[in-house]
Amino acid sequence: MEIFADFDLTPCNTFAVASRARAFCTVREQADLLQALAYAVEQDLPLLVLGGGSNVLFIDDYPGLVVHMAMPGIERLEQDDNRVLLQVGAGENWHNLVMWCLRKGFYGIENLALIPGTVGAAPIQNIGAYGVELATVFACLTALEANSGEFWTFQRDDCQFGYRDSVFKHGRPGELIITTVTLQLSLAPVPVTDYRTLHEELERRHGDSVPSPQQVADAVIAIRQSKLPDPARLPNCGSFFKNPVIDQATFQTLSARYDRIPVFPVPDQPGQIKIPAAWLLDQAGWKGRRQGAAGVHREQAVVLVNHGGASGAELLALARDMQAAVLDRFGIALEPEVRIVQGSGG
Ligand code: FAD
Ligand code: EPU
Repeated sequence: MEIFADFDLTPCNTFAVASRARAFCTVREQADLLQALAYAVEQDLPLLVLGGGSNVLFIDDYPGLVVHMAMPGIERLEQDDNRVLLQVGAGENWHNLVMWCLRKGFYGIENLALIPGTVGAAPIQNIGAYGVELATVFACLTALEANSGEFWTFQRDDCQFGYRDSVFKHGRPGELIITTVTLQLSLAPVPVTDYRTLHEELERRHGDSVPSPQQVADAVIAIRQSKLPDPARLPNCGSFFKNPVIDQATFQTLSARYDRIPVFPVPDQPGQIKIPAAWLLDQAGWKGRRQGAAGVHREQAVVLVNHGGASGAELLALARDMQAAVLDRFGIALEPEVRIVQGSGG
């Protein structure tokens, strides 16, 4: 495996932000990963794992080793009449996995179609969309602990999955490198169609009939294509901020001032309500605004976009202004969903 010096990361992040890594390598097998780790120790470099780069914002050059995760493989570990256990290499593309599963008749992740990125990154923020989260189908994962060089298995309960959250988001960056993810999928369709936008789209397409998993995936893909910019045309990282979870009292205060605030339930947190960051930002007038080449998408106020040549610092400055405006107007602190990588590890 080759280790490159002074490597251009611009094509490796979907914000298309210019940044260089002091060192860079692509790992395709376990031996590559161990070699990368040994190199980082020997050279005393911090380490950053990168999948598809669809949830990172580089603020400046990265002063360490970027390990591009490309370990492949889909292995059927067990199968009975009802379910299948699939162990998937961290470097597999998530959307390709969803499509492969549909072709094989393995169900449960069709609502997560078209989410960019790798399988290994999916547990980091417990990817979610249209009523399903990774946690719903997650069985376990294996990860290499950088400090000890040992491999560990994490069962579902070890991962502390929450909304856009897991135990892996809170450690030191580069501490745990996920190498495989095991999913438990169903052999019978289990349509999850109660998410309002999805429900409406399916009703429009198929009336009252129960949709097939392929039809659910097709509807999700169509909704996503109509709402979210394609990073290949307009560089972005999806939602820049998480949707804030607020308490009843804050919600009552907001409701007194605004009609028809879109709300989402928060499972396992009674009395808490999730409201869209996009709605707050839209109300505060951010949709379509620009600060130089850094901008807010004209259809989706929570999506920051790079109109061409914006630096990470410019995008971050825009994000900070948006946070300040929402805090000032609504008293709500927006938290970034995107991982901000700054200087010695971010
Ligand atoms: P990267 O951006 O490469 O990395 C993200 C983080 O995970 C970094 O901190 C990185 O160090 C760490 N990491 C990556 N791989 C590993 C590994 N193997 N081991 C340890 N750490 C690792 N997300 C959703 O949840 N729902 C959506 O609907 C959604 N829609 C999106 C739409 C668009 C247009 C875009 C651009 C993004 C969207 N996202 C969404 C965000 C993004 O797709 C997910 O967060 C995805 O899981 C990121 O995968 P990645 O491989 O690109 O990760
Ligand atoms: N809305 C506005 N203004 C806007 C955009 C949206 O008022 O500019 C309103 C819409 O009318 C709607 C509500 O906000 O009532 C929610 O909008 P949308 O359905 O587009 O979803 P979202 O809350 O913005 C979340 C996730 C997405 C995920 C979709 C579908 C977060 C931070 N974002 O978006 O995930 O795909 O729901 O489940 O939770 C991502 O994480 O990168 C991502 C794209």
